[in-house]
Amino acid sequence: MKLKIAVLPGDGVGPEVTAQAVKVLKAIAQEFDHTFQFKYAPVGAVAIDETGEPLPKTTLDLCKATDAILFGAIGDPKYDNDPSAKVRPEQGLLKLRKELGLYANIRPVKAYDTLLDKSPLKRHIIKGTDICIYRELTGGIYFGEKKLSDDGNTASDLCEYTRAEIERITHLAFKSAQSRKRKVTLVDKANVLESSRLWRRVVTEVSQEYKDVKLDFLFVDNAAMQIILNPKQFDVILTENMFGDIISDEASVIGGSIGLLASASVGDYFAMFEPIHGSYPQAKDLGIANPIASILSAAMLLDHFGLFEEAELIREGVERSLKLNITTPDLNTKFNHISTSKVGDFIEDFINNPKDNNMN
Ligand code: IPM
Ligand code: MN
Repeated sequence: MKLKIAVLPGDGVGPEVTAQAVKVLKAIAQEFDHTFQFKYAPVGAVAIDETGEPLPKTTLDLCKATDAILFGAIGDPKYDNDPSAKVRPEQGLLKLRKELGLYANIRPVKAYDTLLDKSPLKRHIIKGTDICIYRELTGGIYFGEKKLSDDGNTASDLCEYTRAEIERITHLAFKSAQSRKRKVTLVDKANVLESSRLWRRVVTEVSQEYKDVKLDFLFVDNAAMQIILNPKQFDVILTENMFGDIISDEASVIGGSIGLLASASVGDYFAMFEPIHGSYPQAKDLGIANPIASILSAAMLLDHFGLFEEAELIREGVERSLKLNITTPDLNTKFNHISTSKVGDFIEDFINNPKDNNMN
């Protein structure tokens, strides 16, 4: 298969972790005779430094001209503590999602058997957890009208959803549940928010088309508690933009490190793959950032194009690295932890030598 992939490494540790994902994809291309072409472009704080804009037009145009986008991370502390900054790195990511219509953010969370003791949660609680979060990504409070009064003392952000926005992601969530454990939990705040009540109504209607899937409802505050108390009760979690942002970071605790969580952001025309973690600026260039989330995002990219065997090989390589403790310091408390690029090298090597690896 021929694929043109836009690579947007972004800020902080983005370039280091993305380089490992590219390394792994190149190994897959070589092993399976695919042609993957990588085209790089700036986004986020690095793009502001270069061009004054967090998402330069050339970057957006490149994304539109490629088959898929591999995204690193975004954010720089110099903007975080400046509430008056007009241009922010995060705007680049939000604009990319909106312009490309990436309305469904898919975030799988699972507990690896070899990492059960890395999580602060008890092993019997997390063992066997396998959740897939469907987070709506182009609506809600992130994109509603924003206001700041002239005197600067009153501000508001509007949370707005339309039936069509809810319907399209709901179909994706139910289809995914059909090939999983056939359960969708809608997380909302329908006891308070009108927008949540619309979600309940529309999701209930759509669910009639998927009689083999069970639909549950949970208020977001309760969901936040249940994810920690009994994560195994969940299969597919469907939720709006901000609730999804918050509970997916929370759920990452189950896996033992946020550095493991990959995501796919898909729409009707484009698809982007990115770790759920941020730019982790303190770790930039230190070789300590975990590249697994980015590498697993590359596996999700391959899945998206039906390259399941290839994606599976990457996942096997990742599991092997975790099993052998070939891991960065977030998972490896030993003094001799492995660097970002060495983890990438190990997985690259695993892909290049599948026969040797099967024998172990
Ligand atoms: C994420 C991030 C982004 C979000 C930020 C960087 C805008 O936290 O992808 O989860 O809030 O969506
Ligand atoms: Mn987030």
